[in-house]
Amino acid sequence: MSILVTGGAGYIGSHTAVELLNAGEEIVIVDNLINSQIETIDKIKQITGKDFKFYQVDLLDGENLQKIFEENSDIESVIHFAGLKAVGESVEKPLEYYKNNLIGTITLLETMRKYNCKKIIFSSSATVYGEQVSVKYVETMKRGETTSTYGTTKAIIEKMLEDIYFADNSWNISILRYFNPIGAHDSGLIGEDPKGIPNNLMPFIMKVANKEIDHLNIFGNDYDTKDGTAARDYIHVVDLAKGHLKALEKLNSEKNGLYVYNLGTGTPYTVQEIVDTFKKTNNIEVPYEYTERRAGDLPIFYADPTKARNELGWVAEKNIEDMCKDSWNFVKTTKQK
Ligand code: NAD
Ligand code: WQD
Repeated sequence: MSILVTGGAGYIGSHTAVELLNAGEEIVIVDNLINSQIETIDKIKQITGKDFKFYQVDLLDGENLQKIFEENSDIESVIHFAGLKAVGESVEKPLEYYKNNLIGTITLLETMRKYNCKKIIFSSSATVYGEQVSVKYVETMKRGETTSTYGTTKAIIEKMLEDIYFADNSWNISILRYFNPIGAHDSGLIGEDPKGIPNNLMPFIMKVANKEIDHLNIFGNDYDTKDGTAARDYIHVVDLAKGHLKALEKLNSEKNGLYVYNLGTGTPYTVQEIVDTFKKTNNIEVPYEYTERRAGDLPIFYADPTKARNELGWVAEKNIEDMCKDSWNFVKTTKQK
Protein backbone atom coordinates (compact mmCIF):
# COMPACT_ATOMS: atom_id res chain seq x y z
CA MET A 1 0.00 0.00 0.00
CA SER A 2 1.33 3.44 -0.77
CA ILE A 3 0.68 7.01 0.26
CA LEU A 4 0.31 9.78 -2.29
CA VAL A 5 2.05 12.93 -1.05
CA THR A 6 0.88 16.04 -2.93
CA GLY A 7 3.30 18.95 -2.64
CA GLY A 8 5.97 16.53 -1.45
CA ALA A 9 8.82 18.56 -2.96
CA GLY A 10 7.86 21.52 -0.77
CA TYR A 11 9.07 22.51 2.69
CA ILE A 12 6.74 20.52 4.96
CA GLY A 13 6.01 17.81 2.36
CA SER A 14 9.70 16.92 1.88
CA HIS A 15 10.28 16.57 5.63
CA THR A 16 7.17 14.41 5.94
CA ALA A 17 8.29 12.27 2.99
CA VAL A 18 11.57 11.62 4.84
CA GLU A 19 9.77 10.56 8.01
CA LEU A 20 7.35 8.32 6.06
CA LEU A 21 10.20 6.60 4.19
CA ASN A 22 12.22 6.19 7.39
CA ALA A 23 9.18 4.52 8.93
CA GLY A 24 9.14 2.01 6.05
CA GLU A 25 6.15 3.46 4.17
CA GLU A 26 5.89 3.40 0.37
CA ILE A 27 5.21 6.83 -1.11
CA VAL A 28 4.46 8.50 -4.44
CA ILE A 29 5.06 12.25 -4.74
CA VAL A 30 3.14 14.60 -7.02
CA ASP A 31 4.23 18.23 -7.29
CA ASN A 32 4.20 20.76 -10.13
CA LEU A 33 7.36 22.42 -8.66
CA ILE A 34 5.74 25.88 -8.74
CA ASN A 35 7.34 26.61 -5.37
CA SER A 36 10.02 23.95 -5.08
CA GLN A 37 13.01 22.39 -6.82
CA ILE A 38 13.47 19.00 -8.45
CA GLU A 39 16.75 18.60 -6.47
CA THR A 40 14.68 18.18 -3.30
CA ILE A 41 13.41 14.85 -4.63
CA ASP A 42 17.00 13.56 -4.89
CA LYS A 43 17.79 14.94 -1.43
CA ILE A 44 14.88 12.99 0.06
CA LYS A 45 16.29 9.84 -1.59
CA GLN A 46 19.80 10.69 -0.37
CA ILE A 47 18.69 11.20 3.26
CA THR A 48 16.60 8.04 3.42
CA GLY A 49 18.42 5.73 1.01
CA LYS A 50 14.96 4.85 -0.33
CA ASP A 51 13.47 5.17 -3.80
CA PHE A 52 9.97 6.29 -4.81
CA LYS A 53 8.08 7.59 -7.83
CA PHE A 54 7.86 11.32 -8.50
CA TYR A 55 5.38 12.90 -10.93
CA GLN A 56 5.72 16.52 -12.02
CA VAL A 57 1.99 17.06 -12.43
CA ASP A 58 -0.33 19.94 -11.59
CA LEU A 59 -3.28 18.94 -9.41
CA LEU A 60 -5.53 20.88 -11.75
CA ASP A 61 -4.59 18.43 -14.51
CA GLY A 62 -7.21 15.78 -13.77
CA GLU A 63 -6.19 13.53 -16.66
CA ASN A 64 -2.61 13.13 -15.51
CA LEU A 65 -3.72 12.85 -11.90
CA GLN A 66 -5.89 9.89 -12.92
CA LYS A 67 -2.88 8.33 -14.63
CA ILE A 68 -1.03 8.44 -11.33
CA PHE A 69 -3.84 6.49 -9.65
CA GLU A 70 -3.97 4.07 -12.64
CA GLU A 71 -0.24 3.42 -12.51
CA ASN A 72 -0.19 3.11 -8.73
CA SER A 73 -3.30 1.14 -7.90
CA ASP A 74 -2.00 0.55 -4.37
CA ILE A 75 -2.44 4.20 -3.35
CA GLU A 76 -4.51 3.89 -0.20
CA SER A 77 -4.24 7.33 1.35
CA VAL A 78 -3.27 10.89 0.47
CA ILE A 79 -1.40 13.55 2.41
CA HIS A 80 -2.38 16.78 0.72
CA PHE A 81 0.21 19.57 1.08
CA ALA A 82 0.03 21.07 -2.43
CA GLY A 83 -1.15 24.65 -2.47
CA LEU A 84 -0.02 28.24 -2.71
CA LYS A 85 0.70 29.72 0.69
CA ALA A 86 1.92 33.34 0.54
CA VAL A 87 -0.53 35.41 2.58
CA GLY A 88 0.27 38.82 1.03
CA GLU A 89 0.35 37.49 -2.53
CA SER A 90 -3.01 35.79 -2.01
CA VAL A 91 -4.62 39.16 -1.26
CA GLU A 92 -3.16 40.60 -4.48
CA LYS A 93 -4.01 37.55 -6.62
CA PRO A 94 -7.23 36.10 -5.19
CA LEU A 95 -8.31 34.36 -8.40
CA GLU A 96 -4.99 32.55 -8.76
CA TYR A 97 -5.20 31.38 -5.14
CA TYR A 98 -8.83 30.29 -5.33
CA LYS A 99 -8.15 28.48 -8.59
CA ASN A 100 -5.00 26.69 -7.49
CA ASN A 101 -5.99 25.78 -3.93
CA LEU A 102 -9.70 25.09 -4.41
CA ILE A 103 -9.84 23.59 -7.91
CA GLY A 104 -6.63 21.65 -7.20
CA THR A 105 -8.22 20.14 -4.09
CA ILE A 106 -11.56 19.44 -5.80
CA THR A 107 -9.79 17.69 -8.69
CA LEU A 108 -7.81 15.63 -6.20
CA LEU A 109 -10.90 14.66 -4.18
CA GLU A 110 -12.87 13.73 -7.32
CA THR A 111 -10.01 11.55 -8.51
CA MET A 112 -9.68 9.93 -5.10
CA ARG A 113 -13.40 9.13 -5.08
CA LYS A 114 -13.19 7.67 -8.56
CA TYR A 115 -10.45 5.28 -7.44
CA ASN A 116 -12.21 4.59 -4.15
CA CYS A 117 -9.38 6.11 -2.13
CA LYS A 118 -11.11 7.96 0.69
CA LYS A 119 -8.40 8.53 3.28
CA ILE A 120 -6.90 12.01 3.35
CA ILE A 121 -4.83 14.23 5.62
CA PHE A 122 -5.17 17.92 4.80
CA SER A 123 -2.68 20.70 5.60
CA SER A 124 -4.73 23.42 7.22
CA SER A 125 -3.55 26.36 9.23
CA ALA A 126 -4.01 28.23 12.49
CA THR A 127 -5.14 31.09 10.28
CA VAL A 128 -8.64 29.51 10.10
CA TYR A 129 -9.23 30.54 13.72
CA GLY A 130 -9.23 34.19 12.59
CA GLU A 131 -9.30 36.69 15.42
CA GLN A 132 -10.59 35.02 18.58
CA VAL A 133 -11.29 36.31 22.09
CA SER A 134 -8.89 33.75 23.51
CA VAL A 135 -5.46 33.51 21.89
CA LYS A 136 -4.91 29.90 22.94
CA TYR A 137 -6.64 28.18 20.05
CA VAL A 138 -8.61 25.02 20.79
CA GLU A 139 -10.22 22.79 18.15
CA THR A 140 -13.63 23.26 19.78
CA MET A 141 -13.60 26.95 18.75
CA LYS A 142 -15.53 27.86 15.62
CA ARG A 143 -13.52 28.93 12.58
CA GLY A 144 -13.13 32.71 12.68
CA GLU A 145 -13.25 35.43 10.02
CA THR A 146 -10.21 34.88 7.79
CA THR A 147 -8.08 37.89 6.93
CA SER A 148 -6.54 36.75 3.64
CA THR A 149 -7.59 34.87 0.51
CA TYR A 150 -5.05 32.23 1.51
CA GLY A 151 -6.80 31.76 4.85
CA THR A 152 -10.18 31.68 3.14
CA THR A 153 -9.05 28.83 0.86
CA LYS A 154 -8.08 26.82 3.96
CA ALA A 155 -11.43 27.54 5.66
CA ILE A 156 -13.39 26.62 2.51
CA ILE A 157 -11.47 23.35 2.05
CA GLU A 158 -12.10 22.44 5.70
CA LYS A 159 -15.83 23.08 5.18
CA MET A 160 -15.76 21.15 1.91
CA LEU A 161 -14.21 18.13 3.67
CA GLU A 162 -16.86 18.33 6.40
CA ASP A 163 -19.64 18.35 3.78
CA ILE A 164 -18.07 15.44 1.89
CA TYR A 165 -17.85 13.41 5.08
CA PHE A 166 -21.45 14.33 6.01
CA ALA A 167 -22.68 13.10 2.62
CA ASP A 168 -20.56 9.94 2.60
CA ASN A 169 -19.15 8.76 5.90
CA SER A 170 -16.97 6.13 4.29
CA TRP A 171 -14.38 8.92 3.98
CA ASN A 172 -11.66 9.01 6.61
CA ILE A 173 -10.31 12.55 7.01
CA SER A 174 -7.80 14.32 9.22
CA ILE A 175 -7.49 18.09 9.16
CA LEU A 176 -4.21 19.30 10.67
CA ARG A 177 -3.92 22.96 11.65
CA TYR A 178 -0.27 23.94 11.65
CA PHE A 179 1.03 26.86 13.68
CA ASN A 180 4.37 28.42 12.64
CA PRO A 181 6.73 25.77 11.21
CA ILE A 182 10.45 26.61 11.18
CA GLY A 183 13.71 24.62 11.34
CA ALA A 184 15.02 21.99 8.95
CA HIS A 185 16.15 18.38 8.76
CA ASP A 186 19.35 17.93 10.77
CA SER A 187 21.21 16.67 7.66
CA GLY A 188 21.03 20.27 6.40
CA LEU A 189 20.00 18.91 2.99
CA ILE A 190 16.37 20.04 2.99
CA GLY A 191 14.76 23.12 4.49
CA GLU A 192 12.86 26.24 3.58
CA ASP A 193 14.37 28.35 0.81
CA PRO A 194 11.77 30.72 -0.63
CA LYS A 195 12.47 32.49 -3.91
CA GLY A 196 12.89 36.29 -3.69
CA ILE A 197 12.37 38.32 -0.53
CA PRO A 198 10.83 36.12 2.16
CA ASN A 199 7.60 37.07 3.95
CA ASN A 200 8.01 34.80 6.94
CA LEU A 201 10.21 35.53 9.90
CA MET A 202 12.73 32.64 9.93
CA PRO A 203 13.54 32.68 6.19
CA PHE A 204 14.08 36.44 6.50
CA ILE A 205 16.39 36.02 9.52
CA MET A 206 18.39 33.42 7.58
CA LYS A 207 18.90 35.78 4.63
CA VAL A 208 20.06 38.54 7.00
CA ALA A 209 22.42 36.18 8.85
CA ASN A 210 23.79 35.05 5.48
CA LYS A 211 24.31 38.71 4.51
CA GLU A 212 21.93 38.51 1.52
CA ILE A 213 19.75 41.21 3.12
CA ASP A 214 21.32 43.87 5.35
CA HIS A 215 18.82 43.89 8.23
CA LEU A 216 15.58 42.49 9.60
CA ASN A 217 12.58 44.73 10.20
CA ILE A 218 10.81 43.70 13.40
CA PHE A 219 7.20 44.62 12.76
CA GLY A 220 6.06 46.41 15.92
CA ASN A 221 7.53 46.61 19.43
CA ASP A 222 4.49 48.09 21.13
CA TYR A 223 2.30 44.99 21.43
CA ASP A 224 0.97 43.91 24.79
CA THR A 225 3.47 41.04 25.10
CA LYS A 226 6.44 40.44 27.41
CA ASP A 227 8.87 42.53 25.28
CA GLY A 228 6.44 44.38 22.98
CA THR A 229 7.08 42.21 19.89
CA ALA A 230 4.47 39.78 18.56
CA ALA A 231 4.39 36.17 19.73
CA ARG A 232 3.73 32.93 17.83
CA ASP A 233 3.77 29.19 18.35
CA TYR A 234 6.88 28.14 16.38
CA ILE A 235 7.15 24.41 15.72
CA HIS A 236 10.08 22.42 14.36
CA VAL A 237 9.22 21.08 10.90
CA VAL A 238 10.44 17.57 11.81
CA ASP A 239 8.06 17.46 14.79
CA LEU A 240 5.33 18.66 12.46
CA ALA A 241 6.23 15.95 9.92
CA LYS A 242 6.01 13.30 12.64
CA GLY A 243 2.52 14.57 13.49
CA HIS A 244 1.42 13.38 10.04
CA LEU A 245 2.59 9.84 10.76
CA LYS A 246 0.59 9.85 13.98
CA ALA A 247 -2.48 11.25 12.19
CA LEU A 248 -2.14 8.52 9.54
CA GLU A 249 -1.82 5.83 12.22
CA LYS A 250 -5.06 7.11 13.71
CA LEU A 251 -6.85 7.03 10.33
CA ASN A 252 -5.52 3.52 9.66
CA SER A 253 -6.82 2.32 13.01
CA GLU A 254 -10.32 3.79 12.53
CA LYS A 255 -12.87 2.66 9.97
CA ASN A 256 -13.84 6.22 9.11
CA GLY A 257 -14.25 9.64 10.68
CA LEU A 258 -13.40 13.31 10.43
CA TYR A 259 -10.81 14.63 12.85
CA VAL A 260 -9.28 18.06 13.45
CA TYR A 261 -6.00 18.60 15.29
CA ASN A 262 -3.83 21.56 16.16
CA LEU A 263 -0.13 20.86 15.57
CA GLY A 264 1.80 23.34 17.69
CA THR A 265 3.95 23.29 20.82
CA GLY A 266 1.58 25.31 23.00
CA THR A 267 4.34 27.77 23.91
CA PRO A 268 4.51 31.21 22.28
CA TYR A 269 7.82 32.99 21.62
CA THR A 270 8.18 36.63 20.63
CA VAL A 271 10.00 37.88 17.54
CA GLN A 272 12.66 39.33 19.86
CA GLU A 273 13.15 35.95 21.56
CA ILE A 274 13.53 34.21 18.20
CA VAL A 275 16.10 36.76 17.01
CA ASP A 276 18.05 36.65 20.28
CA THR A 277 18.02 32.83 20.37
CA PHE A 278 19.10 32.60 16.72
CA LYS A 279 22.05 34.95 17.39
CA LYS A 280 23.12 33.18 20.58
CA THR A 281 22.70 29.58 19.37
CA ASN A 282 24.54 30.18 16.12
CA ASN A 283 26.95 32.82 17.38
CA ILE A 284 26.10 35.09 14.48
CA GLU A 285 24.94 38.69 13.98
CA VAL A 286 21.39 39.51 12.88
CA PRO A 287 21.10 43.31 12.57
CA TYR A 288 17.52 44.50 13.08
CA GLU A 289 15.34 47.61 13.39
CA TYR A 290 11.93 48.09 14.91
CA THR A 291 9.39 49.32 12.37
CA GLU A 292 5.63 49.78 12.14
CA ARG A 293 3.31 46.87 12.84
CA ARG A 294 2.51 44.79 9.75
CA ALA A 295 -1.12 45.18 8.67
CA GLY A 296 -3.29 42.25 9.71
CA ASP A 297 -0.82 40.82 12.28
CA LEU A 298 -2.22 39.62 15.60
CA PRO A 299 -0.22 40.37 18.78
CA ILE A 300 -0.15 36.73 19.90
CA PHE A 301 -1.66 33.32 19.19
CA TYR A 302 -0.68 29.75 20.01
CA ALA A 303 -2.01 26.22 20.05
CA ASP A 304 -3.67 24.18 22.69
CA PRO A 305 -2.00 20.89 21.62
CA THR A 306 -3.86 18.72 24.17
CA LYS A 307 -6.12 16.96 21.68
CA ALA A 308 -3.22 15.81 19.49
CA ARG A 309 -1.39 14.59 22.59
CA ASN A 310 -4.37 12.67 23.95
CA GLU A 311 -5.74 11.22 20.71
CA LEU A 312 -2.64 10.86 18.55
CA GLY A 313 0.02 10.44 21.22
CA TRP A 314 1.92 13.26 19.51
CA VAL A 315 3.95 15.91 21.32
CA ALA A 316 6.45 18.34 19.80
CA GLU A 317 9.88 17.40 21.16
CA LYS A 318 12.28 19.97 19.75
CA ASN A 319 12.93 23.30 21.43
CA ILE A 320 13.49 26.79 20.13
CA GLU A 321 17.30 26.36 20.14
CA ASP A 322 16.94 23.25 17.91
CA MET A 323 14.73 25.23 15.53
CA CYS A 324 17.26 28.09 15.26
CA LYS A 325 20.27 25.76 15.00
CA ASP A 326 18.73 23.54 12.30
CA SER A 327 17.48 26.50 10.25
CA TRP A 328 21.00 27.93 10.12
CA ASN A 329 22.59 24.53 9.50
CA PHE A 330 20.46 24.25 6.34
CA VAL A 331 21.85 27.57 5.06
CA LYS A 332 25.42 26.61 5.96
CA THR A 333 25.10 23.21 4.29
CA THR A 334 23.39 24.32 1.10
CA LYS A 335 24.63 27.86 0.46
CA GLN A 336 28.02 28.26 2.05
CA LYS A 337 29.97 25.42 0.48
P1 NAD B 1 5.58 24.87 -0.04
O1 NAD B 1 5.20 25.94 -1.00
O2 NAD B 1 7.00 24.70 0.31
O3 NAD B 1 5.03 23.46 -0.57
C1 NAD B 1 3.85 23.33 -1.32
C2 NAD B 1 4.17 22.50 -2.55
O4 NAD B 1 2.99 22.37 -3.35
C3 NAD B 1 5.23 23.14 -3.43
O5 NAD B 1 6.27 22.21 -3.69
C4 NAD B 1 4.49 23.50 -4.72
O6 NAD B 1 5.32 23.40 -5.86
C5 NAD B 1 3.35 22.50 -4.71
N1 NAD B 1 2.13 22.93 -5.42
C6 NAD B 1 1.45 24.09 -5.29
N2 NAD B 1 0.38 24.09 -6.10
C7 NAD B 1 0.37 22.91 -6.75
C8 NAD B 1 -0.48 22.32 -7.72
N3 NAD B 1 -1.53 22.97 -8.21
N4 NAD B 1 -0.18 21.08 -8.18
C9 NAD B 1 0.91 20.41 -7.72
N5 NAD B 1 1.74 20.92 -6.81
C10 NAD B 1 1.48 22.16 -6.32
O7 NAD B 1 4.69 25.09 1.27
P2 NAD B 1 4.80 24.40 2.70
O8 NAD B 1 5.26 25.41 3.66
O9 NAD B 1 5.51 23.11 2.60
O10 NAD B 1 3.26 24.16 2.98
C11 NAD B 1 2.63 22.91 2.70
C12 NAD B 1 1.15 23.04 3.02
O11 NAD B 1 0.99 23.41 4.39
C13 NAD B 1 0.44 24.13 2.21
O12 NAD B 1 -0.85 23.67 1.91
C14 NAD B 1 0.39 25.29 3.18
O13 NAD B 1 -0.70 26.14 2.92
C15 NAD B 1 0.21 24.57 4.50
N6 NAD B 1 0.66 25.37 5.65
C16 NAD B 1 1.93 25.89 5.65
C17 NAD B 1 2.35 26.65 6.73
C18 NAD B 1 3.71 27.29 6.75
O14 NAD B 1 3.92 28.24 7.48
N7 NAD B 1 4.67 26.81 5.97
C19 NAD B 1 1.49 26.87 7.82
C20 NAD B 1 0.21 26.32 7.78
C21 NAD B 1 -0.20 25.55 6.70
C1 WQD C 1 5.80 35.77 12.41
C2 WQD C 1 6.04 37.01 13.26
C3 WQD C 1 5.54 39.09 12.15
C4 WQD C 1 8.68 38.89 9.14
C5 WQD C 1 1.98 33.20 8.59
C6 WQD C 1 0.61 32.92 8.05
C7 WQD C 1 0.03 31.72 8.72
C8 WQD C 1 0.96 30.52 8.61
C9 WQD C 1 2.34 30.87 9.07
C10 WQD C 1 0.35 29.37 6.60
C11 WQD C 1 4.94 38.05 13.10
C12 WQD C 1 7.02 38.98 12.48
C13 WQD C 1 7.85 38.60 10.21
C14 WQD C 1 9.59 40.00 9.25
C15 WQD C 1 8.78 40.38 11.49
N1 WQD C 1 1.13 30.10 7.24
N2 WQD C 1 7.90 39.32 11.35
N3 WQD C 1 9.59 40.68 10.42
O1 WQD C 1 2.26 35.94 10.09
O2 WQD C 1 2.49 34.44 12.15
O3 WQD C 1 1.87 33.46 9.98
O4 WQD C 1 2.80 32.03 8.40
O5 WQD C 1 -0.68 28.89 6.94
O6 WQD C 1 -1.19 31.46 8.11
O7 WQD C 1 -0.21 34.05 8.28
O8 WQD C 1 4.15 34.24 10.27
O9 WQD C 1 6.58 34.25 9.85
O10 WQD C 1 5.13 35.94 8.66
O11 WQD C 1 5.50 36.18 11.09
O12 WQD C 1 8.83 41.06 12.52
O13 WQD C 1 10.31 40.31 8.31
O14 WQD C 1 7.26 37.63 12.80
O15 WQD C 1 5.07 40.38 12.36
O16 WQD C 1 4.74 38.62 14.36
P1 WQD C 1 2.64 34.66 10.68
P2 WQD C 1 5.39 35.15 9.88
